[in-house]
Amino acid sequence: MIKPAFEFDPETRRELGHKVIDIIDDYYSSLRTRAVQPPFEARKIQSAQDCYTPLPETGAEAASIIDELCQRFLRDGFHTASANYFGLMNPAPTYAAVLAELLVAAFNPQLASLARSELASQIERETLRWIGESIGWAIHEGTFTTGGSEANYTAILLALAAKSPSYTRSGIAAFAQRPIFYASSEAHHSLDKGVIICGAGLESLRRIPVDGSARMQIEHLENAIQSDLEAGLLPCCLIGTAGTTNSGAIDDLVALSQVCKKYGMWYHVDGAYGLAAIFSLRHRMLLEGLETADSIAIDPHKWLAMPFSVGAVLTSHTGMIEGLFDVEAPYLPKCAEVQVKDNFRLGMQWSRRMNSLKLWLTLRIHGRQAYEELIDRHVQLGREFAAWVEKSEVFELVMQPELAIINLSVRLPGATEAEVEKANSLIVDKIVRAGKFWLSITRVNRRNVIRTMIINYLSERRHMQEFQATLVAAAKEILAAVAR
Ligand SMILES: Cc1ncc(COP(=O)(O)O)c(C=O)c1O
Repeated sequence: MIKPAFEFDPETRRELGHKVIDIIDDYYSSLRTRAVQPPFEARKIQSAQDCYTPLPETGAEAASIIDELCQRFLRDGFHTASANYFGLMNPAPTYAAVLAELLVAAFNPQLASLARSELASQIERETLRWIGESIGWAIHEGTFTTGGSEANYTAILLALAAKSPSYTRSGIAAFAQRPIFYASSEAHHSLDKGVIICGAGLESLRRIPVDGSARMQIEHLENAIQSDLEAGLLPCCLIGTAGTTNSGAIDDLVALSQVCKKYGMWYHVDGAYGLAAIFSLRHRMLLEGLETADSIAIDPHKWLAMPFSVGAVLTSHTGMIEGLFDVEAPYLPKCAEVQVKDNFRLGMQWSRRMNSLKLWLTLRIHGRQAYEELIDRHVQLGREFAAWVEKSEVFELVMQPELAIINLSVRLPGATEAEVEKANSLIVDKIVRAGKFWLSITRVNRRNVIRTMIINYLSERRHMQEFQATLVAAAKEILAAVAR
């Protein structure tokens, strides 16, 4: 019998498995106190070249390679899972999800066709159903994606197919008038990519100005639609955002829905971040109007504490997604008895990883109420943080947070915008270089802000308090240096 090089004996398999689980376990125990990254001066990786090892011709002892790799990750890695991470939308993954990922890798279901993945596909459909029913849709269809970007561009294709049934055959040539898309100036850049991919082009996306709460201004939206109509163009799709990347702002989803009805447009809601609030009975009213959408995007790898990657697109119109990618090839396996479409017909992917299992397992183990607790607590922490900023002598609150992203700026009476921007950047830079915490700079409605996001289920009040003290200390140092 040949023994393939990749095959370990059962004892080694167990030893290595236990080793990895032990390392993960230590890591999870460290997350409440772990620094996000080493201080800048102590960093070992300065450039991509430092990581280069020549292609290994032969192998080496597995346990020591795993040890070495994990040591490097622990020492030099960037730990978005740390409770001190107040950065972009990257959570600490639930442990249940980590276990699910192991199982997915081991069972390696190929979800392209039902014939080879009936159980895995059934679990995917069940998970989608939980999302669809939580939106309030009795009837819906959807598919898991790699993330919000793929979900958004799928929705853009749906909008085009809804406007012209021959779009999938003829492409953009199916339109006698150019189709136009509308989203707020704060909406995510994946929409720019979406209009490029679908063939409509960047000039077909209207970025509508926002108000002081970073919500799309309906009057500007209607003006833009009117001018497009007068110019002989075709208003095709309106994209509302439920939880913008910069500030977590939620567009007025009811008002947007009315505009869509009035002009016969497809209504998509990009809820990559904020749609998680459907799982909170207390906060789901922030998404009022969501149920009127034609399609939605949700990214469980954001607020639902999933590891990368998992997104989903759902629509309240059945048969639509299936119609988008309904291709044939002789090698595609058939599953004669089943009425449901193969997954490869529901999206761009052919080989499909089971991205849903981690969410399914987390919901089965912890239930919806665990997410409700997470969302309610984060929103509350966000409000407390905002109240602290309002009272601060060093910082000012730029906008009241709707979800759990807080935008602030240093107080510099009499300073120019450029001076404030420089001071904000220096403060963030100082904190980031020290390694323990991580936060970022962005622009909201063209104004430079310090962006703080509560995204980790391990982050508690005490982390916020230490973070606030760090912010104040950094600001005082920078302001003293500026004054000198
Ligand atoms: C509002 C919003 N939509 C879409 C996306 C894109 O999601 P992904 O990174 O999963 O492709 C993001 C990412 O941060 C986002 O914030």
